[in-house]
Amino acid sequence: MNCLQSWPEPVVRVQSLAASGIRAIPERYIKPPSHRPLSNNDFSLPQEVNIPVIDFQNVFSDDQRLRDQALRSIYRACREWGFFQVVNHGVSHELMKRTREVWRDFFNMPAEVKQEYANNPATYEGYGSRLGVEKGAILDWSDYFFLHYMPVSLRNRNKWPATPASCRELVAEYGREVIKLGGKLMKAFSMNLGLEEDFLLNAFGGEENVGGCLRVNYYPQCPQPDLTLGLSPHSDPGGMTILLPDENVAGLQVRRKGSWLTVKPVPNAFIINIGDQIQVLSNAIYQSVEHRVIVNSNRDRVSLAFFYNPKSDLLIEPCKELVTEDRPALYQPMTFDEYRLFIRTRGPSGKNQVESLKSPGPCNEC
Ligand code: OGA
Ligand code: NI
Repeated sequence: MNCLQSWPEPVVRVQSLAASGIRAIPERYIKPPSHRPLSNNDFSLPQEVNIPVIDFQNVFSDDQRLRDQALRSIYRACREWGFFQVVNHGVSHELMKRTREVWRDFFNMPAEVKQEYANNPATYEGYGSRLGVEKGAILDWSDYFFLHYMPVSLRNRNKWPATPASCRELVAEYGREVIKLGGKLMKAFSMNLGLEEDFLLNAFGGEENVGGCLRVNYYPQCPQPDLTLGLSPHSDPGGMTILLPDENVAGLQVRRKGSWLTVKPVPNAFIINIGDQIQVLSNAIYQSVEHRVIVNSNRDRVSLAFFYNPKSDLLIEPCKELVTEDRPALYQPMTFDEYRLFIRTRGPSGKNQVESLKSPGPCNEC
């Protein structure tokens, strides 16, 4: 049997483990000491440091001065951080709140109801509790729900939760709004590379063909949060991620100069990060950044990660306009279908995958 058809071990829902009242987490979730949350100089960055916050409303202003200023702030955030928050992004705050709440309600439904959506590693669509199919792997402290929104040919509302009753409608509306925001961000990223505003969108296959998937992460409370992680270090394999974090509970950490910085979510903001496919297309002018999620002992946490991806069968490679004699193509071409098999098989593994795409031969940045 193909190893991607089924899970290698019986699936355990982390939420039910947490609800069982155990005082000690099972060994399968205990990370080696060097991978635990408090292990490597976590306090070397001042606690008040946060990722940049970008006011998005001037990006398409008629006032050129305001527009240039806004674009420059995005450029700096992309280059210096690879992660930023956006406010005044155009998505209704009410819709954001209602969509997050409906998913919280979904995870609070009885196990049998959720079980109807149990996923498998062939497509990952549905209700899941692990990423990767390696037998005996150390697992993360989270459950999730994964669904396709774009392209329309992959959108199957029957695979989305039928209860709570408003879930499908909210996901449809939320997807529409977030895809719109993704399109605007792609324009800003393109212009900041000195390219036509539609350049990156076209490289992703155009409006009709881009991929859009939602992963709703559910991080239950954890009796021993110092021993495990909600999500292990990884960079996002796709184009970019538009994350709606939990309003009340921090958990996302971004790797910054070797330390882990906890992101403080700004109310009603989205957290945006560059993924590996934009790193490749931009020939590493933009770079994806490693991140992870920590858990805590008294609050559960819900986040909605919307992955904005290239059409999955296009070859993605450094775009010609950004390849010069001084800066040769740093990566070999690969389709996103092929690329994402790695994380789907091996699970999260830092930035190893994009590094492995590096072209052979001498290169100053390798
Ligand atoms: C992800 C992710 C962060 C979070 O789903 O890829 O990094 O805060 N999520 O849940
Ligand atoms: Ni991520």
